[in-house]
Amino acid sequence: MAHLTLGIETSCDETAAAVLEDGRRIRSSVIASQDTLHAPFGGVVPELASRRHVEVIWPVVQEALARAGVTLAELDGIAATAGPGLIGSLLVGLCFGKALAFARNIPLVGVNHLEGHLYAATLDHEGLSFPFTGLVASGGHTNLYLATAPGVYRLLGRTRDDAAGEAFDKVAKLLSLGYPGGPLIEEWARKGDPNAVRFPRSVPPRGSYDFSFSGLKTAVVNYVKGVGGAVLQPSAFSLQPDLVADICAGFQEAVVDVLVRVSLAAAKASASRRLVLVGGVACNGRLRSKLTERAAEEGVQVYYPKPSLCTDNAAMIAAAGYPRLLRGERSLLSLNADANLTLGLT
Ligand code: KG4
Ligand code: ZN
Repeated sequence: MAHLTLGIETSCDETAAAVLEDGRRIRSSVIASQDTLHAPFGGVVPELASRRHVEVIWPVVQEALARAGVTLAELDGIAATAGPGLIGSLLVGLCFGKALAFARNIPLVGVNHLEGHLYAATLDHEGLSFPFTGLVASGGHTNLYLATAPGVYRLLGRTRDDAAGEAFDKVAKLLSLGYPGGPLIEEWARKGDPNAVRFPRSVPPRGSYDFSFSGLKTAVVNYVKGVGGAVLQPSAFSLQPDLVADICAGFQEAVVDVLVRVSLAAAKASASRRLVLVGGVACNGRLRSKLTERAAEEGVQVYYPKPSLCTDNAAMIAAAGYPRLLRGERSLLSLNADANLTLGLT
């Protein structure tokens, strides 16, 4: 009999549920995005996010069950994100998972969102095995891990300030491009010249795998101020489209350059020479092509899941929860959401 796991994810601004068969086969994956709700604010408004999660969590779970052709009674386990993320958002999905588990007597495990991101790669790459080096580059994190075995992680490096996705979002806001910034900057960058404006790269000292993106963001702000020659008023401020495209291309190239350099250095130093790239920023086409090219030169095998598995989804949460459920691990109903939950030893 197949094992059916229901995944629930509400750590930020996506309400997601998925049904996974035997930890690998996605029977359904439903994602209710809140992008249009937060777009006018240029970023996620936590209070609005949690309210929307409350409204849509049950319909989203029902839709996931219906698409999978599965009833609650047939579920073998529930995996719900317990952290890290926005506390109000996390609480909705986790409490919902706990209530379902209690009401229907279904085993429950709380899942670390970051472990979920790493597991997304296993859904698209059957041949991927531990150990591997994994870069989680999202709106909230830029963390580099050594994933030794399921559940065993070492944090090799992380951002000291802004996350890579956060930098994309902030620069997009500065240029009045919209939200979320990553895909919009990528689109603009395609029309620009990555060498027209060269922004600084922050490369960590030898032996460190930490990242830093705030200096780059400030450099973009200063550049825009310089060419604008005025106090920055993004809404009233309009740059020539060609220049916007060049700024986007130059900025994207700088972020990509650093992510590729640091993650490849870590992968090369590991025995496995396998590198997993996940999180929303892993959708970026320029990052994928540059990493593929450089990794081939360095003899590193790169794995990235399709874009819909890179951004927040519940299939990855079910995938990370599945081996735990199988091992008999259970979370108590007293499990609380933790906005600052960490993953792995440092
Ligand atoms: O993993 P994710 O969906 O949510 C978090 O856990 O944060 O990542 C969202 C982030 C946002 O900052 C978004 O701008 C960025 O991923 N992102 C991208 C692209 N698509 C999404 N960044 C660069 N290029 C993209 N194509
Ligand atoms: Zn995420």
